[in-house]
Amino acid sequence: MSELNKIALNIISKGRGILAADESNGTMTKRLMAVNVNSTPENRLLFRETLFSSMGMKECIGGVILFDETIKQTTSLGKSIPDLISSSGAIPGIKVDTGAKDLANSFEEKVTEGLDGLRERLKKYYELGARFTKWRAVYTISDKYPSKLAIHSNAHVLARYAALVQESRMVPIVEPEVLMDGDHSADLCLSKTSEVIKKCFDELILHKVDLSGIILKPNMILAGNQSKDKISKEEISEKTLECLKNSVPSEVPGVAFLSGGQSEIEATENLNLISKNNNTNFIMTYSYGRALQQSALKIWSKNIKDLEKTQNIFNHRAKMCSLAAKGEWSNELENK
Ligand code: G3H
Repeated sequence: MSELNKIALNIISKGRGILAADESNGTMTKRLMAVNVNSTPENRLLFRETLFSSMGMKECIGGVILFDETIKQTTSLGKSIPDLISSSGAIPGIKVDTGAKDLANSFEEKVTEGLDGLRERLKKYYELGARFTKWRAVYTISDKYPSKLAIHSNAHVLARYAALVQESRMVPIVEPEVLMDGDHSADLCLSKTSEVIKKCFDELILHKVDLSGIILKPNMILAGNQSKDKISKEEISEKTLECLKNSVPSEVPGVAFLSGGQSEIEATENLNLISKNNNTNFIMTYSYGRALQQSALKIWSKNIKDLEKTQNIFNHRAKMCSLAAKGEWSNELENK
C-alpha cells in the first residue's frame, strides 16, 4: 500500500468523512453576513475553532479542508490550527485552487485557475501540516453546456494539479462539480456528470497520477433545482451508483460527495441510501461544507460566545453524516 493510499484511506474509512471548511474570505463573508455576524479574521477563526475542537471531530471527521487564511491561524490557546485538527485524529487539508474564472471563447462557463506557483505553495502547505488538498472545477448544465471545451480544459488542469500534489506527497481531492442549478432532468445530470468524470480520469491517467492516492469529490445525480422532474431518493442512489460504476477506475479508494446546495437532511438521507445500496468497491462518504455547518452557524450567530450549543449541533450533524456513510442513518436517530 502506498503512503498516499494510506492517507486517503485514513481520511475516509470507518464512517469518517471530510469537513469542508475552506470557504474563501469572500464566501465566508457572505455566509456570516447572512446571519448578521461581522466577517473579521477573529470571527472566522472563532467559528472554525469551535467546530474543530468539538467532540464530533473524533469519530466522524477524518479530514478538514482549510482555506489559506485558516491554516496559518493560531487558536486562543496558542495552538496552530493544523495541530488542533491533528490532535482530534483528523488530517489537515488545504484548498489550493484560486477560483473558477471565465473560460475564454465560452464566457458563460468557467475554468478553475491556480497552477501558477503551485509547486512552491504546496511545499509551504506541507510544512504547515497539510497532507491532502482540494481543487474544484464547476460545470453548468443547459442545452449547450457543459461544452467539450469546458470539460476538456478543467480535466486538464485537474490532472496537472493532482500530479503536482502527489509529487509533494499529499493526496489530491479531485472535485468536478456539475452544479444543480437549472431545470434539467436527473437523466441529463447522469449523462453529463459521467462525461465529465470520464474525461477527468482520461487526463489523470495521461498525467500518470496514482489513482490509488486520490479522493474523488463528485456531485450526486440529482434533477436540477428548478426541474419539474422530481425523482425519489432510491432513484438518486441508483443513478449516482450507475454513474460512478461506469466512470471511475477501480483503483480509486473512495468517493466523498459534496453537498452542493442540498439541505442538511437531504444530503444525509441521500448519502445513506447510496451507502446502503453501494455495489461498488469504492468507499462512499461525505465532504460537506454547508450540509455540516449550516445549523451550527445559525446557532453560533445568536451568541458567538456560547460554544457549547454550537458544538452540540455540529456533533449531531457530524454523527448523522457518519451514520449515513455507513448506511446506518434513520429518521428516528435524526430526531432522537
Ligand atoms: O467545494 C465545495 C465544498 O468543498 C463543498 O461545499 O458541501 O457546501 O457543496 P458544499
